Amino acid sequence: MQEAPRITFPAIEGAPLFARWLGLAPRFDIMATLAKGPVCYTRLLGKRIYFVNDAEYVKRILLDNLANYPKSVTYRNNLRPFLGDGMLISEGEFWKRQRRLAQPAFHLRRLKALAATMAGAAARMAAGWEHGKVVDVMPTMNAVTMEIVAKTLFGADVSRDIGTVGEAMNVLGEETGRIRPTAFFELPEFVTRPRGRRFAEAVATLDAIINRMVAQRRAEIGRGAAPQDDLLSMLLEARDEESGQGMTDRQLRDELVTLFLAGHETTSISLTWTFHLLAQHPAAAARLQAEVDSVLGGKAAPSFDDLERLPYARMVAEEAMRLYPPAYVFSRRAAGEDLLGPWRIPAGAHIIISPYALHRRPDYWSEPDSFKPERFAADGSNVSADRPKHAYIPFGGGPRICIGNSFAMMEHAIVMGAVVRRWRLESIPGHEVRTEPRITLRPRGGLPMRVLRR
Ligand code: HEM
Repeated sequence: MQEAPRITFPAIEGAPLFARWLGLAPRFDIMATLAKGPVCYTRLLGKRIYFVNDAEYVKRILLDNLANYPKSVTYRNNLRPFLGDGMLISEGEFWKRQRRLAQPAFHLRRLKALAATMAGAAARMAAGWEHGKVVDVMPTMNAVTMEIVAKTLFGADVSRDIGTVGEAMNVLGEETGRIRPTAFFELPEFVTRPRGRRFAEAVATLDAIINRMVAQRRAEIGRGAAPQDDLLSMLLEARDEESGQGMTDRQLRDELVTLFLAGHETTSISLTWTFHLLAQHPAAAARLQAEVDSVLGGKAAPSFDDLERLPYARMVAEEAMRLYPPAYVFSRRAAGEDLLGPWRIPAGAHIIISPYALHRRPDYWSEPDSFKPERFAADGSNVSADRPKHAYIPFGGGPRICIGNSFAMMEHAIVMGAVVRRWRLESIPGHEVRTEPRITLRPRGGLPMRVLRR
């Protein structure tokens, strides 16, 4: 058993979690910290924060010994004030039951019913651009993924409220997306809860709309109306196998807000980085265009059945999420002492896992910083046989893996297909694209790009 190497503050040099707080942002280099070794730690006011950057150890945390690694206090401090006890945060038997209830809504045959909604929103967005204009890709993708998640969750009911819901969601994302030093400590909720009218009003607005939609839908079901093809109907119908119970209004509200948040921001970020990478790699962009043109013909966006004939689109998405995983760090708490290989992890340690760092480790990936969609070819021709499974975790791993991963991959292919069908996106000369590590990894200051009709 060994003590992991300790990294001191100067060595952190603006690691994302501290960058803003210590004013070191200009020296930010995520790799400098997260790639210090397979395991290292730092101390923050006596609290030990471990960085784990090894696929086998990550597997132990997320899968083999997961009972010892509940979610860290960061989730509760940052997100509970508006996600409540939704699936992203809850633990134990309660989490298990909620996940079991929601899982059927994400089966492929249910997702199939949502593809047309995604295609409609994507095609409308792509039809609204003007040749030669500069578009900020980040908010544009945010708007389309927001519309998609709203409509797939609530169906037609949400149409008149979509603007209000979107605004409230953006406020809540803004208020809770910053990583504060308090994120690492067990503190009462009144200390960590964002203060201020903006936050309280956004929560109240969202709750009022969601509660109204839930009540309406319950009433419709009570009158014997046919269930709709949206996630709200599926969640309302869900019954626990053992108890036969459904969700209460409060549980439904928390899961709906969780799916709303988790379901749009990450996907919009991965689409945004994808368009940046395609503009930097014309050969990959040309291959994607050829694939999309041949599969779509005259259609504006891919249908569900088109997706299996768009393998390169999937490879592009996977490679973009390797280089820029939207959830670039997530965290756990060591409930009891554990060993990761030879390294001792003390009880109470805060553990940070970084898909970003794992996805760029040179011993797992050849030319780790290069954009090469071919590494994800389905025939495995470019996949290194000895790369461990947990070296690629854009959606996390183990039982708490993202419930929306197939939803996200489908949405990514549909939106990307609709854009590529009509447009070529060009980088703006002189605009430096840099990462902005918040709770998610966005491009700093958005991503302006010029849209050119093909
Ligand atoms: C590119 C898009 C996405 C990425 C990169 C992503 C990433 C992740 C990651 C890394 C986790 C695990 C967090 C952890 O273990 O601490 C997670 C969990 C989760 N995601 Fe996603 N996600 C995406 C899209 C979605 C979508 C579209 C939905 C829903 C419609 C969704 C809903 C959730 C939920 C509910 C959880 C919690 C699952 C649980 O703990 O049981 N995500 N996501």
